Amino acid sequence: MSGRLADHTIEQNWQDYSEAEHAVWRLLFERQQQLLKRRACREYLQGLRGLGVAAHGIPDFGRLSDILDRATGWRIVAVPGLVPDDVFFAFLAARRFPSTCFIRTRDQLDYLQEPDVFHDICGHVPMLMNPVFGDYMQAYGEGGLKALHLGHLGHLARLYWYTVEFGLIATPEGLRIYGSGILSSAGESVYCLEDPRPHRLRFDLRRVMRTEYHIDRYQETYFVIDDFAQLFAATRPDFAPIYREIAALRDVPAAAILSEDREFKGFRGRKKEGPRVSTARV
Ligand code: PHE
Ligand code: FE
Repeated sequence: MSGRLADHTIEQNWQDYSEAEHAVWRLLFERQQQLLKRRACREYLQGLRGLGVAAHGIPDFGRLSDILDRATGWRIVAVPGLVPDDVFFAFLAARRFPSTCFIRTRDQLDYLQEPDVFHDICGHVPMLMNPVFGDYMQAYGEGGLKALHLGHLGHLARLYWYTVEFGLIATPEGLRIYGSGILSSAGESVYCLEDPRPHRLRFDLRRVMRTEYHIDRYQETYFVIDDFAQLFAATRPDFAPIYREIAALRDVPAAAILSEDREFKGFRGRKKEGPRVSTARV
């Protein structure tokens, strides 16, 4: 790792976590296990199993990195919190996933705006065990450095938001979750699949990069991919001309629907206008 990157890392100091902190992890972990069994995508559940990520407590990043490294060449680095954009992208481009170390307190179990170690490790790291997704994250890092340079970070950040953090995937068994922001949230992991209110739209790169988002509430719109190969293929082209194209178009509010949108039909809840009343509200 280059000096610039190394300067932003800290030691996890795993031995310093208290028993109370490990207990918060276990609480969160067990609750998500129950919820995600039938809601998370196969790739996530496989990744989690492959990591053997600790139902027992906050994992040691070094041990986790060794397993992850063998699978896809990714490693986890400990950071104090948010790092500058260029540093964040450079980490991803080097297949280093920056993770926070602190864990939320017992009275913050359901709601937290900033990432903590549960979100970073339990939400993101299992997906990095998947080779295609791992390559996507690295490509995103490289794309981030480029977007910074071109002045289009705002557009690219929406892609991260609506895929890496809040993405849904259509599978033969039904709609499943792959976005880490959902995977680490008990409330949203039910809401995103079962609540009739949010829109679930077929993934479209330009539409995603035009769509605003809120960081302080459940999503009003989710984008559904068919598989990770589709996501990887859609994001492979040079974004420079695409940025110019969408810069000429209006941004789309988070809850809006456009005439050309393709709604994903097969979600588990009942439709708003359907004859049956939803029982899926959370
Ligand atoms: N293809 C993008 C570009 O040229 C880079 C990228 C890849 C961005 C994958 C996001 C995800 O900027
Ligand atoms: Fe995250």
